[in-house]
Amino acid sequence: MMILGIESSCDETAAAVVADGHRIYSSVVASQVDTHHIYGGVVPELASRMHLEAIVPVVDSALAEADITASKIDAIAVTRGPGLVGALLVGFSFAKAYARALNKPWVGINHLEAHLHSVFLDNPAPPAFPFVALLASGGHTNLYQVTGHLKAELLGQTRDDAAGEAYDKVAKLLGLGYPGGAVIDRLAHKGDPTAIQFPRPYLDKSGFDFSFSGLKSAVLRHVEQNPDPTPRQVNDIAAGFQEAVVDVLTHKLLHAAKTYRCNEIALVGGVAANRRLKSRLAVDVEQAGLQLHVPPIALCGDNAAMIAGLGYHYCRAGQYGDLASDVYSRTRF
Ligand code: KG4
Ligand code: ZN
Repeated sequence: MMILGIESSCDETAAAVVADGHRIYSSVVASQVDTHHIYGGVVPELASRMHLEAIVPVVDSALAEADITASKIDAIAVTRGPGLVGALLVGFSFAKAYARALNKPWVGINHLEAHLHSVFLDNPAPPAFPFVALLASGGHTNLYQVTGHLKAELLGQTRDDAAGEAYDKVAKLLGLGYPGGAVIDRLAHKGDPTAIQFPRPYLDKSGFDFSFSGLKSAVLRHVEQNPDPTPRQVNDIAAGFQEAVVDVLTHKLLHAAKTYRCNEIALVGGVAANRRLKSRLAVDVEQAGLQLHVPPIALCGDNAAMIAGLGYHYCRAGQYGDLASDVYSRTRF
């Protein structure tokens, strides 16, 4: 079953063709990051306009790269939420209209659930159910127990900033630009993670919730008290901040696996691209006798292959979209 996936929830216009929920034929991502970079964050109005310009060429490229014509697609899967409403509407309206024109079924997909599905894509040894998953992105830091392709229970989430958001805000206050995850990852590699001790928020709490705004404020206070840091000091700040984030994420994820007696763990979302988080988790997971699944970097950030992949399971379950349905900006999932 060939599914065309479409994603436009934030600042990436993406389309992909995926067979049977896992085999990627094409995955095209048009990033707007260079435009939003100038403003230090995503400008919603600009994002919508850029999605409008990109959607047709991106879908055409995904079909061409997969070497398939639109008439051969079995269904269309499109992100319904959460995200920026104006941005979501571009992909969602396009998908509904395209499905209607092609006389094909379509499904509306939850973006977070799709991130969870990213570990099944092009993976010869995907995780077995149940497993625990940490979704760490620019908008969310959610811990789940995943018991089926269409079934996941939210165990905990951030009370304030998401992990990726903390990376972005810390990068901004250090004058490193937007988005900040990859650049802090790079600088932290050259710094000393023990030079500055930043707080580990919620590490001592027994639940599965997170909080990152206090950590971000601690970095801000440090910079205010120690202005004009040298490049070496910036590296140490980045390393100290990152070590605090990694400590909390690793601890909570392993604690959830133990509590829910899951032998397999998945790390998904934009922050799953982080090298320190991956290496630290790899060691801790092995010591605990568990198995770790992290998608390749291209599937950690926003993409449409995860939308198409999950769409397959919705189609199989007969849960198709309703023409009267709308996008949503927030979700409790
Ligand atoms: O999943 P994603 O592409 O979009 C959302 O759904 O939010 O995640 C984007 C987030 C940004 O906050 C970005 O700074 C962060 O992922 N990120 C990273 C890294 N690469 C991207 N955070 C830490 N380390 C990285 N290497
Ligand atoms: Zn995302």
